[in-house]
Amino acid sequence: MKTLVIVVHPHLEQSRINKAWAERIAKEENVTVHNLYGAYPDGKIDVAREQKLAEAHDRIVFQFPLYWYSTPALLKEWQDVVLTYGWAYGSEGNALHGKELVLAVSAGGAKDVYQAGARNQFTLSELLRPLQAMANLTGLEFLPTHAYHGVYGVSDEALAESAEAYVAHVLNPELSLKNVAL
Ligand SMILES: Cc1cc2nc3c(=O)[nH]c(=O)nc-3n(C[C@H](O)[C@H](O)[C@H](O)COP(=O)(O)O)c2cc1C
Repeated sequence: MKTLVIVVHPHLEQSRINKAWAERIAKEENVTVHNLYGAYPDGKIDVAREQKLAEAHDRIVFQFPLYWYSTPALLKEWQDVVLTYGWAYGSEGNALHGKELVLAVSAGGAKDVYQAGARNQFTLSELLRPLQAMANLTGLEFLPTHAYHGVYGVSDEALAESAEAYVAHVLNPELSLKNVAL
């Protein structure tokens, strides 16, 4: 299984969590780490390059920090320009059919504020629905998300542990709804 990790962070050099995750997963075999903001500092995405990259892998990971309950802007742009009619959807748009999508998300807010009646009112799963709907339309199997909450002030030890947990989750070949504890 070949995995494409699309890392989406506008300031990866200043990042703590996503930088550590990206560096850790780059050590694994059969993994391509693709730093989206690094590849396109001017924001102009090379659509043909991105489509070829996606075609060459079986599983796609979107790794990003939660920004305003959503993705950083360039990941939205990636969807807008890369997921074209006739490639990702439409009667002949089957390039992603049978591939898998996993989200790996870091969030400043603690897990217990992401629920009905708490400060943020909605769960992370609810907030990430547009990505799930995109996967549904494009024939990507939407696998369980890896979420890391309350990222501020984590110790170096906890950060290293989170990187191991991230890699184990997103590269798990058995990852599927039925194999993840609820
Ligand atoms: C522009 C911006 C928006 C953010 N929005 C949210 C948010 O909606 N919910 C949340 O829990 N954290 C939010 N955060 C906190 C980030 O998710 C957090 O800083 C990030 O996950 C830390 O990862 P890093 O060390 O890789 O930067 C936001 C941070 C920034 C800079």
